Amino acid sequence: MEIKLLDGKYKEYEGQQVELFGWIRNKRNGKNISFLNINDGTCFKTVQVVYKKLSNQDEIEKSHLGAGLKIVGNIVISDNEKQPYEVKAISIEVLAPSKEDYPLQPKKHTYEFLREIAHLRARTNTFNAVFRIRSVLSYAIHDYFNREGFLMVHSPIITSSDAEGAGEMFQLTTLDLEKDIPKDDEGNVNYKKDFFGKKASLTVTGQLQAEAFALAFNKIYTFGPTFRAENSNTTRHAAEFWMLEPEISFANLDDLIELAKNMLIYVVDYVLKNAPDELNFLNQVKGEDVDIIERLEQLVNANFTRITYASAVEQLESIVASGYKFENEVYFGVDLATEHEKYLTDVIYKSPVFVTDYPKEIKAFYMRNNDDGKTVAACDLLVPGIGELIGGSQREERIDVLIDKMKEHNLDPKEYEWYIKIREYGGVDHAGFGLGFERLIMYVTGMENIRDVIPFPRTTRSCEF
Ligand code: 4AD
Ligand code: MG
Repeated sequence: MEIKLLDGKYKEYEGQQVELFGWIRNKRNGKNISFLNINDGTCFKTVQVVYKKLSNQDEIEKSHLGAGLKIVGNIVISDNEKQPYEVKAISIEVLAPSKEDYPLQPKKHTYEFLREIAHLRARTNTFNAVFRIRSVLSYAIHDYFNREGFLMVHSPIITSSDAEGAGEMFQLTTLDLEKDIPKDDEGNVNYKKDFFGKKASLTVTGQLQAEAFALAFNKIYTFGPTFRAENSNTTRHAAEFWMLEPEISFANLDDLIELAKNMLIYVVDYVLKNAPDELNFLNQVKGEDVDIIERLEQLVNANFTRITYASAVEQLESIVASGYKFENEVYFGVDLATEHEKYLTDVIYKSPVFVTDYPKEIKAFYMRNNDDGKTVAACDLLVPGIGELIGGSQREERIDVLIDKMKEHNLDPKEYEWYIKIREYGGVDHAGFGLGFERLIMYVTGMENIRDVIPFPRTTRSCEF
């Protein structure tokens, strides 16, 4: 029997004999009676096991934290609210002992220390809660899109196109870098000799392929790993992260914002309902600063703001005029820095904020030009404590405009031939966004470093485990 069955329903099991398989989280040896806290991994809570005078009493009492046990015992109901039931052991078998130097002792460990033992940290309360929420959120995303009739597409991981045009790709090659690299007549690397016969990389986004599928299936999404060789050592950037990318046809920016809102409300509500123990625990860890549950409940009640980039800049400029100092300058045309984004969400609006209609120069080539000639039909969703969670846009469907935009971004239209072609055959209005899954987990759990919401994080200068 799993502990989960006991969770909440324990009263039905009063007096019954159960079998438990789990690991020792904590223990206390008494004079006449000893205690174990057992977690079997199936739920956040632990169960207390009491035992005395067992034939192997000594062996159990000497067992170290982390040991794997099989326990047979009876459920005893108590009137202690914190510990409403316990298991009175009839027998305890040590299935796998643990060593005395088990690093996870019952005391406060720093996140930095726990990152160094990422192979063990999932056994702590905090990471147990975080990674369970990661799993619940992932399920909720698939559930939402499935209910809404979206097709799921597995977009490729290996690609030959820089879909963001930002030059932040990890190159992939089977050429032996320690030997002579084949060169062509002009002295450039001869990629014809490489595995794919051309230069290849890990994808930064599944968007371009997602667009092709949206023009076939109408409403689609991809949800998978993406890779960026951004040399930014921040708490919000990882080299390998998961991105959710829906793409919808016959749709404009308003439709896209509506979709982003509804999807977020659904998944956050799902976590509130399905991971209450985990959220309560993390809220406690977070302390007085932020009430993450209250923040999530507000989001579920559709507490969103929508402003244009121009108005965001105006407001920030007037803050500066009144004496407030940002580290980075703010003016029309600037790429908003995290401090600006956080000022909008945390200080001015105290809610998630959709910022729309960015200057075209600071956004990717595929975003649709607005009629003003200056801005594009783009939106970023900024959320309190994090900054940018979502980036999206209506797509430029006009072929001549798209080609001009590629050239303005110093991209060679020849390399995007198929992407241009899909517009020649029924290339209707379409729009899509990308949501950084880890940033969503950070927002939901209140964790402040992206390294602490990824099981085994990969960041600049760090590829351990
Ligand atoms: O804004 P981005 O770069 O947009 C795109 O890639 C589009 N092609 C998406 C689309 O329209 N289909 O990235 C989308 C989101 C960001 O808002 C951010 O949350 C996350 O991906 N993100 C990162 N998350 C972690 N580490 C990084 N290095 C990230 N770069 C982007
Ligand atoms: Mg972006």
